[in-house]
Amino acid sequence: MSAEVERALRECVVDVPDYPEPGVLFKDITPLLADHDAFTAVVTALASAGRDGDGNVIVDKVVGMEARGFILAAPVALALGAGFVPVRKVGKLPRATHAVSYALEYGEATLEIHQDAIAPGDRVLLVDDVLATGGTAAATRTLVESCGGVAQAFSVLLELTFLPGRDAVPGLPVTALGRV
Ligand code: PRP
Repeated sequence: MSAEVERALRECVVDVPDYPEPGVLFKDITPLLADHDAFTAVVTALASAGRDGDGNVIVDKVVGMEARGFILAAPVALALGAGFVPVRKVGKLPRATHAVSYALEYGEATLEIHQDAIAPGDRVLLVDDVLATGGTAAATRTLVESCGGVAQAFSVLLELTFLPGRDAVPGLPVTALGRV
């Protein structure tokens, strides 16, 4: 982990108590995004899971999950010379989609991907800002596989270690830049 990534996580992620509801400690990454050096270092680190030990790019597509995942995944895709694919909340994509619903603490959520966004056999890197319960990551992996893609790895800025999020994506290598 570079010193700049450590600084980014230490100084540029702001804890906001009781947001969006009482009892939740929200991790606000907007100061990190506004800091060019921090943002650059984080994107470079997140992209490293898309390279092999010799630095060769090993993914064809980078998938970002709405909404904060978009902000990180798009520059990671550019850094790797790969395509960017959005996984969106239900009803936002205009053409034929695959959809996956999953349980939340209260209710359920549905995510979608364009059916033609990933070609069969494409190797895919997942990128998001936070890994909490893992529901988003698991659903995204399922969507990638619905297209015939192969989920290679998941890069995330922050992993909440009091939740078993990575258990939701068994066998998928998870790289978390910070663990809180
Ligand atoms: C947050 C976060 C991750 C997800 C992680 O997204 O950006 O995508 O939750 O939680 P999980 O591991 O329990 O699924 P949110 O749904 O709040 O959307 P947003 O980025 O649009 O705020």
